Amino acid sequence: MNDSIILHDKVFKPYLSYDKIISAIDGVAAKINADYEGCTDIPVLLCVLNGSIVFTGELMKRLKFNVELVSMKLTSYDGVRSTGKVRQVMGLSGSVKGKRVIVVEDIVDTGNTIVDLMDIVLGEGASDVRICTMLLKPEVYKKDVKLDYVGMEIPNAFIVGFGLDYNEIGRNYKDIYVLDPVATEQLNEKMKYYILFGPPGAGKGTQAAAMVEKYNLCHISTGELLRKEIAAGSELGLKAKALIDAGALVPDEVVEGMIENQFKTVKGVKGFLLDGFPRTIAQAEALDAMLAKNSQEVTSVVSIMIPDKMITERIKHRATIEGRADDANDATIANRIKTYHDKTEPLIGYYRKAGKYAEIDGTGSIEDVRSKIFATMDKF
Ligand code: IMP
Ligand code: MG
Repeated sequence: MNDSIILHDKVFKPYLSYDKIISAIDGVAAKINADYEGCTDIPVLLCVLNGSIVFTGELMKRLKFNVELVSMKLTSYDGVRSTGKVRQVMGLSGSVKGKRVIVVEDIVDTGNTIVDLMDIVLGEGASDVRICTMLLKPEVYKKDVKLDYVGMEIPNAFIVGFGLDYNEIGRNYKDIYVLDPVATEQLNEKMKYYILFGPPGAGKGTQAAAMVEKYNLCHISTGELLRKEIAAGSELGLKAKALIDAGALVPDEVVEGMIENQFKTVKGVKGFLLDGFPRTIAQAEALDAMLAKNSQEVTSVVSIMIPDKMITERIKHRATIEGRADDANDATIANRIKTYHDKTEPLIGYYRKAGKYAEIDGTGSIEDVRSKIFATMDKF
């Protein structure tokens, strides 16, 4: 249980392991057995739904006398706060009249629930009522009702798992997690996710460096990432290397996994600048889904545009400086331009529809283009 979990808008970190909970339950069960073993009546185990389901199950298995299971459903929590009012959602599922009752609660916090339960159960004619709770927050509990069996005391923090929920989810985790306020704040802080488009020769590299510096972004270039992961020998890197060595394309899942890794692990930035991803609508959709999981979204697409004629000129000019013969060939250049248009056009439509597409005229000076880019980014 080393990983934090996200439930709705909050992050929870590991707190009590399953083994610890189980040994607390063993202790409680031993005490109850000592008090009831050999009894001639059939006491009622009253499971307070929903939170106590898991605890009741574990406790029941350990009891060495006959019990009858009755349930009822109460609710007092809204999100991570007690409302102070207990609502009876479902009444007692069976009669407790004249019977000894052991109320089984997951956790006692303010104690409002327990006080109401006592009233209800005694009002229904139970001959004796004892309270058994898996957990207790003693700093918060201020009522006089005696808590006969307490599994474990915990500080006043909001927890989930082992039956306990945050707005109805989290009950199924086998360990218990506690709210992590710092990570939750980070999660809810909207990060910026910019996508950079631009044909070869548009000055993407130069502008990306300026964007990264001004807005404190992490530049993610998929090609570079692949090389880094391979060099680092990460699991993804090894997968990618095997594919590349075999002459195969690196599939979307691998690229997407790498990018998601960056989103998760790079800290101390205000956002990301994606360069070379997404390349297809499918990847754009995957990116949206990946971000939506954490209530994030693409901020905007910054597309640096220059006319095809200028692309050709710039590539040729660069070729003369760098002596790259491949760049100087007209047919190759025309092909690269065509590929760029074919590939990018559908994505432009995709982001335009989402109202996130910004096109910047890349024909001016570096400074000129840069200030246009900054002005656009400030708008989003
Ligand atoms: P009380 O009435 O304030 O004692 O609250 C008891 C009920 O509130 C429990 O049965 C739980 O359903 C819920 N509750 C209290 N503390 C927590 C918590 O930390 N996590 C999840 N639910 C809690
Ligand atoms: Mg409860």
